[in-house]
Amino acid sequence: MSTQVNKEFKKITTHALQAMKERNEKISMLTAYDFSMATIFDDAGIDILLVGDSASNVMSGHETTLPITLDQMIYHASSVIRAIKRCLVVVDLPFGSYQGNSKEALNSAIRIMKEAGAHSIKMEGGEEIIESVKRIISAGVPVMGHLGLTPQSIYKFGTYNVRAKEEAEANALIKNAHLLQDAGCFAIVLEKIPAELGKRVASELKIPIIGIGAGMHVDGQVLVMHDMLGINKEFSPRFLRRYLNLYEQILDATKQYITDIKSNDFPNESEQY
Ligand code: KIV
Repeated sequence: MSTQVNKEFKKITTHALQAMKERNEKISMLTAYDFSMATIFDDAGIDILLVGDSASNVMSGHETTLPITLDQMIYHASSVIRAIKRCLVVVDLPFGSYQGNSKEALNSAIRIMKEAGAHSIKMEGGEEIIESVKRIISAGVPVMGHLGLTPQSIYKFGTYNVRAKEEAEANALIKNAHLLQDAGCFAIVLEKIPAELGKRVASELKIPIIGIGAGMHVDGQVLVMHDMLGINKEFSPRFLRRYLNLYEQILDATKQYITDIKSNDFPNESEQY
């Protein structure tokens, strides 16, 4: 299958992403948490891999993203980093590793850069984290923002419903997006907000806006790999497009494997020494 991978960029940097926005080239982004999947995604030509704190859900089975630790994020990130040749790797600062104060935030970001070899970090929030964002960027670490439905605040929101439908919340989101841009963020993720709001933020801001459930008018799209590949069969939000049904395929393959063992079909003569 042919893809529209831009071969001009041998390595995707934050500058390459900015150039893509400026010439209306959409940015592709997926989550990854391990070496093998990151190898495939990078070979396919993905622009950004996000080592998301969604690892807490899809890799560890927690209900929320809150329990994952900085050490666990560093473990996932270093596995991904060992796989990639071209894409930019962004790593989530997990809940509790940056909200305390800007010194704590900087120390967490430095651990991710030093111990995992990451290229950049992502943080959820606006005004309340601006001091930390500035301090991390001034230390030379690129920061991606994250606004809208920010899963680390799920207990404050109470639901995973669409955010910023009301004017006051929409205005606050626009203000926070400008604050993040002015603080020096190289891009912002907008999660689960009305498409019109996504369009407005992407057109007002100079930096790339990556959407997940933020409509078609933003500068790029991100999905959680387990959702995109159909490994999660229960999760079906409107914004999700599934490209495979891996749950069924892996289930069927595993059943066949069990059957082959039980029936003495596997291994056969040619599969033994
Ligand atoms: O952790 C994650 O996977 C994310 C994406 C949903 C953007 O933050």
